[in-house]
Amino acid sequence: MSNRIKIFDTTLRDGEQSPGCSMNLHEKLEVAAQLEKLNVDVIEAGFAIASPGDFESVSEVAKLVKNATVASLSRAMEKDIDAAYNAVKHAVSPRIHTFLATSPIHMQYKLKMSEDEVVERAAAAVAYAKKYCSDIEFSAEDALRSDKAFLARVFSAVIAAGATVLNVPDTVGYSTPEEMADYITYLKNNIIGIEKAEISVHCHNDLGLAVANTLASVKAGATQIECTINGIGERAGNASLEETVMNLNTRKAYYGGAYCNIDLKQIYRASKLVQRITGVPVAPSKAIVGDNAFAHEAGIHQHGVLENRSTYEIMTPQDIGIPHNKMVLGKHSGRHAFDDRLAELGYRLTKDELDEAFARFKILADKKKVISDGDLEAVVAMKLDESLVQHYKLDNFVVNSGKNITATSTVRLQVGDSEETIEAVSSGEGGPVHASYRAINILLGERIEVEDYSIRAATEGEDAIAEVVVKLRRGDKKATGRASSTDTIEASILAYLNGVNKLWA
Ligand code: KIV
Ligand code: ZN
Repeated sequence: MSNRIKIFDTTLRDGEQSPGCSMNLHEKLEVAAQLEKLNVDVIEAGFAIASPGDFESVSEVAKLVKNATVASLSRAMEKDIDAAYNAVKHAVSPRIHTFLATSPIHMQYKLKMSEDEVVERAAAAVAYAKKYCSDIEFSAEDALRSDKAFLARVFSAVIAAGATVLNVPDTVGYSTPEEMADYITYLKNNIIGIEKAEISVHCHNDLGLAVANTLASVKAGATQIECTINGIGERAGNASLEETVMNLNTRKAYYGGAYCNIDLKQIYRASKLVQRITGVPVAPSKAIVGDNAFAHEAGIHQHGVLENRSTYEIMTPQDIGIPHNKMVLGKHSGRHAFDDRLAELGYRLTKDELDEAFARFKILADKKKVISDGDLEAVVAMKLDESLVQHYKLDNFVVNSGKNITATSTVRLQVGDSEETIEAVSSGEGGPVHASYRAINILLGERIEVEDYSIRAATEGEDAIAEVVVKLRRGDKKATGRASSTDTIEASILAYLNGVNKLWA
């Protein structure tokens, strides 16, 4: 048995399918670049046939990524496989990932196919895909509610047709760790030609067992695991990459020496990036990356940790790249100190990006006495968001609000390249943010719906940076806007304009 476990990340495909987690092309490329830094083995970049936008993002990810294999999902149909291949063909290492359901309930009600037809279709799809590229993954959808012997028959047929990876998905999150282990052991012993393929697992979290099921499968001999950053994915999500990887790393001996090539120090940044881009925060108590994951509250714990960290800590925040919260910079700090600190935090920015971030830092340093690492991360995040076309720019705003009055807001915007500005005033029973959004809608001359709005303190202290994420809809188009500022109303307006600019683009 090989001890090397390959990490197949599906944040951009299964993760993106979860409600509220859709990403635009620019955001997907940012996530893909971070997945490369994490050193994942496979990036599932999307489902190429799903829409022209999906096709474009899979092919752009394929062009960007240099080290990982890039996969596209496809149903077991020729037109899907054509689209998948045309999207991933630019990759240094392309993979086509085709799937077909094998459980009685799916075959009877969804596919309306007999067992023989399923075996034939699965093998035909793999053979067709094999004409395009050598690396073919086949997934038996709903495998954990499929008959084991039938599953072994399907997998034997697809190996004969050229499949190199056999994925065993617990599509509806139904399995238990013992059952997963049982299936993997059975398949290893009963698939004809298994020595030519790798066994993969893909676990959903409907009963909260996705990570446990994944780990049990590794113990039973699976050598590829499919997971997502922060565990995002259909319904209750997929196995979370950070939890699965840190289990393997912390309990290496227990898992028979199994190891993966993930750069652990990139885990925290990857989690933060996906939270920022999707606007979906993780719970403070979430293992590994939650705000409280390394916080020791009880006095007896704090005492123990101060005496010897291993009394209560089985891993350290530094292991996953959580920066020390050193308050190092202020308004007198120079460019050199700023560049050094960002490099220490793991950012690799171009000179132009650093120039822009430094300009923002100076503006912030005029408002805040001390700039923490969290502030710096927010400064970089603001800059990254602004790499989008800024068709509508905020020139100024004035709000008037109080306890027993209806809030009013005057918003002035600059549009496109024009030097001229346009201004509107509106009231809003919901307060100054509501009034500002209405004023902007007057200027846009159209109705934009706010589907969700959230605000949080991105840093600490009474002069903390507020980060606003607002989900907007215009007709059937959706966009997520985000922005940060020490002024909560300004952050709210900028986030709205960020979303509007994405809709406009
Ligand atoms: O959950 C599932 O079955 C899937 C497959 C398409 C791999 O996402
Ligand atoms: Zn899935």
